[in-house]
Amino acid sequence: MSNMRTAIYPGSFDPVTLGHLDIIRRASVMFDRLIVAVMHNQNKKPMFSVEERMEFLRRTTVELSNVEIASFGGLLADYARQQDACAVVKGLRAVSDFEYEFQMALANRKLNPQLDTVLLMTSAEYMYLSSSVVKDIAVHGGSVAGFVPDRIMQDIVRRTRKEG
Ligand code: COA
Repeated sequence: MSNMRTAIYPGSFDPVTLGHLDIIRRASVMFDRLIVAVMHNQNKKPMFSVEERMEFLRRTTVELSNVEIASFGGLLADYARQQDACAVVKGLRAVSDFEYEFQMALANRKLNPQLDTVLLMTSAEYMYLSSSVVKDIAVHGGSVAGFVPDRIMQDIVRRTRKEG
């Protein structure tokens, strides 16, 4: 077994925002290997395909050499076992996020006792941000500059105009 410490940052990433990127950057220096995993949230109907979401993430993280982009359709606890990951990383934006994250962390650890959850406090400037906010602004013709990475901005605008 290697000594490499792997963490997984799971999410819908529909699409990735500057808030997610902040968490990715900070987590990438805490672990040897960080897998950003596009996963399925059964309560959501995504706007972007899994491939599109992965491509946006790849484009956004090319400089981060220990970050990998992946997708998985099953349970996070199983994926973590498969990847030999010791931790799940999530961003915490407000107290209101806490109860849900606490519940998920306990459920994931019950399913995989090796798996701990590390909650990083979101940087203050991204506290209000979510992927839904970005999509809502874009669909209504607003500017998403300062919400999503510059590199994917045009694609978000093009795709949401088509949908809207
Ligand atoms: N900056 C900006 N936005 C953030 C953020 C941050 N740091 N952290 C979270 N958000 C946003 C997300 O974009 C998301 O926005 P949206 O609701 O508009 O899409 C929202 O906050 C909620 O994020 P999160 O709670 O992380 O939900 P998610 O859908 O992104 O991810 C999964 C949930 C996919 C990780 C979860 O459903 C999962 O693990 N699925 C796999 C199946 C499984 O194992 N289920 C059992 C778990 S116990």
